[in-house]
This record gives sequence, structure tokens and C-alpha cells, in this order.
Amino acid sequence: MSPLKKYLLLPSIIRLSSRVPRNRNTAWEGYWGRIQRTGADGDVLWDAGTDHEFASFLPALQRTLNPVLPVVDVGCGHGSFTRLLASHFPQAIGVDVAPGAVARAREQTTDLPNVDFRALDCTAAGAGDLLSAELGDCNVFVRGVLHILDPAARSALAANLLPLVGQQGRVFLVETNFRGNALDYIARLGASPRRIPRPLKLAIAGLPKPGHFGPAERLAAFDDCDWTVLEDGSVTIDAVAMRTKGQPEQIPGYYAALAPRA
Ligand SMILES: C[S@@+](CC[C@H](N)C(=O)[O-])C[C@H]1O[C@@H](n2cnc3c(N)ncnc32)[C@H](O)[C@@H]1O
Repeated sequence: MSPLKKYLLLPSIIRLSSRVPRNRNTAWEGYWGRIQRTGADGDVLWDAGTDHEFASFLPALQRTLNPVLPVVDVGCGHGSFTRLLASHFPQAIGVDVAPGAVARAREQTTDLPNVDFRALDCTAAGAGDLLSAELGDCNVFVRGVLHILDPAARSALAANLLPLVGQQGRVFLVETNFRGNALDYIARLGASPRRIPRPLKLAIAGLPKPGHFGPAERLAAFDDCDWTVLEDGSVTIDAVAMRTKGQPEQIPGYYAALAPRA
């Protein structure tokens, strides 16, 4: 698309985004209620329906997380990554603020006895203590959650992870880190003035505007006094195919593995 043509998207974007509920948690529950299908041909923007992305960061995840502890998948959505994590840890628990996401995650997880799900706002005061009282020290996996929170909520989430990881757990986060503006992002994901793909339309009309999350945002949320970075770097995030069937969209991303300071 030519640099100027993307501005023709503006009226549709403004109209769609005017429907987004102000309360973020309400927005997430509404979004999950409108999802009809998940996976490669589904409605969920960040679900490419393959394990390709997971395989790309699995070596880093195995190098840095503690293999004998459970893993908590914070903001698990419909649980696709919780299910992938379950092969590598004794227990995998997906936690999401939207009860509708948790219900869908349970529905799609029928044959994995070491997987369970909880509905919980992971930015709420005491959420980390609550999970830690039940599970003890845990690893924490976060994909695609921090970039949709505002800075205060990011810090609240990071503060909740401290009691949850305890002494022995670690955090592995994977986030989108697209540096252009919102119109560039939407155009890159296949929107044109004539057509906005359904997964993108559902996200624009239902969810708070996403930000990006890279090293600077990680440092702002995960204070150096509390956390040490074991490793970090670039990763490619796979999203559902929206331009060419069978070809997941690829979004620049950032990963980091963190340990609590002793
Ligand atoms: C972009 S989706 C990513 C889902 C999943 N991690 C994945 O990669 O498939 C973000 C998820 O975070 C959840 N979420 C948003 N705010 C949350 C919060 N405060 N506590 C827990 N989950 C939250 C949303 O309901 C949504 O399922």
C-alpha cells in the first residue's frame, strides 16, 4: 500500500474503535464472547494455529526456566501456549482475566491431565500471593499481555510476579514490539481501504489499542532492583494468516527471561 493510501483506513478505524468499552477487563470478556473459531483459519489475531513460534524460543525457555517447577501462563487466552508448555513442565496453569477465555481454554483442553485454568486479574493487588499460596514457587510465561497494558498495570503485574516466582522460579516473556504507528501496523496485518480482515476487525472494535514492548518497557516495568535479566533478544511473533491463506503474519517481537534478585 502506498504511504498515503493508508490514511484512507482512518474513517473505518475511528468508527470501529469507538465501540471499545472503556473498562479493559470488560473489553476482554466481550472480545472472547465474539470469537467463533480459533486456530489457523480462526478469529483470534495472535493465534497462528501452529507451534512454529513456540519452537523458535523453546531453547531459550529451556535454558532459563526451572524444569522441576510448575509454569503459570499469565493471560493465557484460549490456552494454546498453556497446552504447549504442558509438555515441558510438571504442571501448566493458565490464568486469564476473562472468564470466557478460561471457559474456552478448558473446552479445548480435554486430554492433558497436568493442565488447569483460573480466571483472575493478574494486575490486581494480591493476585501473585493468591497463586503462590496455592502453587508455591512457579515459573511464569507471559505472551502478548504486557504490550496491551498501560504502564501502571505493567508494573502491578510485575510486582505480582515476585511472590509467585519466589526464590526458584523464573519469568519468560514474549511480546510484540512493532515500532511503527497504528496505521502502519494495521496495514501490515492486511487491512486495506476496501477490506479489514475479520480477526483484525474484531480486535480493533473490541480491544484497547495495543502498544509495543521492548527492552525500555521491560526495564520500566521490571525494576532492576528486583529483577535480573538472564537473556533477552528479538523474536518473531506469528499471527493468524490474514493476507494469504496458510501463511501466518509475522510481527517483530521481543523476549526476555528474568530471575528475581536474591
Ligand atoms: C493478546 S492475548 C494473548 C493470549 C495468550 N497469551 C496467547 O498468546 O495466545 C492477551 C490475553 O491477556 C488477557 N488479559 C488481559 N489483561 C489481563 C489481566 N489483567 N490479567 C490476566 N489476563 C489478562 C486477555 O483476556 C487475553 O486473553
